[in-house]
Amino acid sequence: MNSPHQPITTRYQEDREKHAYVRDLFNRSAPHYDRVANVGFLGTGHFHRKRSLKLAGLKPGMNVIDVACGTGAVTRAILDILAGNGHVVGVDPSEGMITEARKHVPAEFKLGRAEQLPVPDAAFDFLSMGYALRHVEDLAVAFAEYRRVLKPGGRLLILEISKPASRLGMAFSRLYFRNVLPWISRIVTGSKDASEMMAYYWETIDACVPPDVILTALAESGFQNVKRRVELGICSQYTAVRPG
Ligand SMILES: C[S@@+](CC[C@H](N)C(=O)[O-])C[C@H]1O[C@@H](n2cnc3c(N)ncnc32)[C@H](O)[C@@H]1O
Repeated sequence: MNSPHQPITTRYQEDREKHAYVRDLFNRSAPHYDRVANVGFLGTGHFHRKRSLKLAGLKPGMNVIDVACGTGAVTRAILDILAGNGHVVGVDPSEGMITEARKHVPAEFKLGRAEQLPVPDAAFDFLSMGYALRHVEDLAVAFAEYRRVLKPGGRLLILEISKPASRLGMAFSRLYFRNVLPWISRIVTGSKDASEMMAYYWETIDACVPPDVILTALAESGFQNVKRRVELGICSQYTAVRPG
């Protein structure tokens, strides 16, 4: 098992219970996700996602899969870049998140998981995954699946929040993500589920394997040009290419 983190035992006991816990958590908090993300990241999310996609090589004309699309935040940025030339399919295991996405984002959406994508082999020029790598059960299984669905020469971009390397950055991140954000989420939505979602956000960032492990897992899954860019010490952008 190549899990991105150990079980979060305050939430569930064993790896095999993780998927059900995460799916239920996102189903319960789906109606609040966009609002919480907007407030929590001061409205910068769309700009950051779009810029990261462009830097990773997304261009009009591409056929794109957005894994862990949630309410469609990355999907929306992809549609902006494609500007009517190209196709995007969003995939997510939470019915609640997909229902929200369908209300606001004019793309194709399917239920499914990173570990078993409901799409054919070698179908996509570009694969994105935003802020969800911590939720997969096994990195190697998900990355093998990414390789399967990308065309030769196809690119991937994984956006993730990582623990900062500096002690000061860590102290600030812990204060903001563990203490402040769950509380703000409760205030702006009035929902305990939204607060739990943001508490779990930090718990999994804190428990996640370091970036080097993710880079190694990508390389061992047969990807080339495996790289990580970091902004503000915490915003990681992993990119890689399926060999042509
Ligand atoms: C924090 S949200 C991110 C949504 C969106 N990508 C964004 O950038 O805002 C995490 C999403 O990952 C999804 N998810 C959880 N486990 C997953 C898995 N094994 N495979 C794919 N998606 C998963 C959740 O249902 C949820 O919609």
